[in-house]
Amino acid sequence: MATDDHKSQSVEGFIEKFNFDPCVSELLKSIESDNERIKDLIISKYLQMPLSSREEEDVLEYFINNSVFSAATLANPATSVVTEFLYDPKAAYPIDKYFFKSKGGKAIHSRLIRVEENLHLLIEEHLKNGKVLIGNLGGGLGRDVVDVFSKYYRDNNNVAAINVDKDKNATKRGKRIAEAGGVSNKIKFIEDSFTRYKSKEKFDIIILVGVLCSLPVETCALILKGIKPLLAKNGSIMISNATPRMLDDDPFTYFIMNIMGWRLIFKDEELLKDIFDKAGFKWQRVFTDDYGFHNMAIGIKNNSFFNRF
Ligand SMILES: C[S@@+](CC[C@H](N)C(=O)[O-])C[C@H]1O[C@@H](n2cnc3c(N)ncnc32)[C@H](O)[C@@H]1O
Repeated sequence: MATDDHKSQSVEGFIEKFNFDPCVSELLKSIESDNERIKDLIISKYLQMPLSSREEEDVLEYFINNSVFSAATLANPATSVVTEFLYDPKAAYPIDKYFFKSKGGKAIHSRLIRVEENLHLLIEEHLKNGKVLIGNLGGGLGRDVVDVFSKYYRDNNNVAAINVDKDKNATKRGKRIAEAGGVSNKIKFIEDSFTRYKSKEKFDIIILVGVLCSLPVETCALILKGIKPLLAKNGSIMISNATPRMLDDDPFTYFIMNIMGWRLIFKDEELLKDIFDKAGFKWQRVFTDDYGFHNMAIGIKNNSFFNRF
């Protein structure tokens, strides 16, 4: 069906033109069977044809009404509700199922798995020097730490964590999953901004996962510089950021997420090195999720005289 200014667009032709994954075709066909005009508007928007304000709003409204994931993202693109949604795919709506099947969605799930593996390795390294305290800053529910603790450290009194998140509901839910995982005695949940958070105890490991992606390099460097006093001497830091590959390999998912106001500043390894350098951390290594859509960089506090403060 032709719309006001947008002629009917064939899903097949669109998919072929951009060589999109089959899940994009599935998504557009399911929208087409429900509302052909919206499918046409989505394709027109992707092709950068101008949409009227009414058409823009109609597309957005369609996503809000037909996808829990989209509604949650629109309400707050940085909420842990969005990441948690992808960690444990259960929703039934076709648009939500698209996110589970897309490379972008699977990469976020894979990031969790790789972060947990590497967090375990870091804990083991630091345990050689005694007790280990982890700071999960912007930790959301703290799922990564809860998983690692339940799997490896339930009976180890030398490992503990503090989860700092400004979101009251994430903090509440975090306490519940820690309880369910049998590790609530090892994780303190604090509802606060980590930029304000002060503590007498220093962290041996700080992790910031899914926190920096939307921020410019200079802001990331300032944040890391600000939290540096929370880290013990020779402490490790792990940060994550989306890579430009996410946009190259799965532009359609990023396009859909953009409609919901999810905007990222993609950073490659060099930019993460630059952030560490500016904030006074020494680069150690980097790892990625299985799709190369996120870089997770690990560094240590640089204890040279000029970087001590
Ligand atoms: C996308 S979620 C990621 C949660 C978790 N780290 C993970 O990997 O699943 C980002 C989290 O950072 C939190 N956050 C962002 N800025 C913060 C700040 N300044 N202080 C505390 N929490 C913050 C948000 O509330 C949100 O829970």
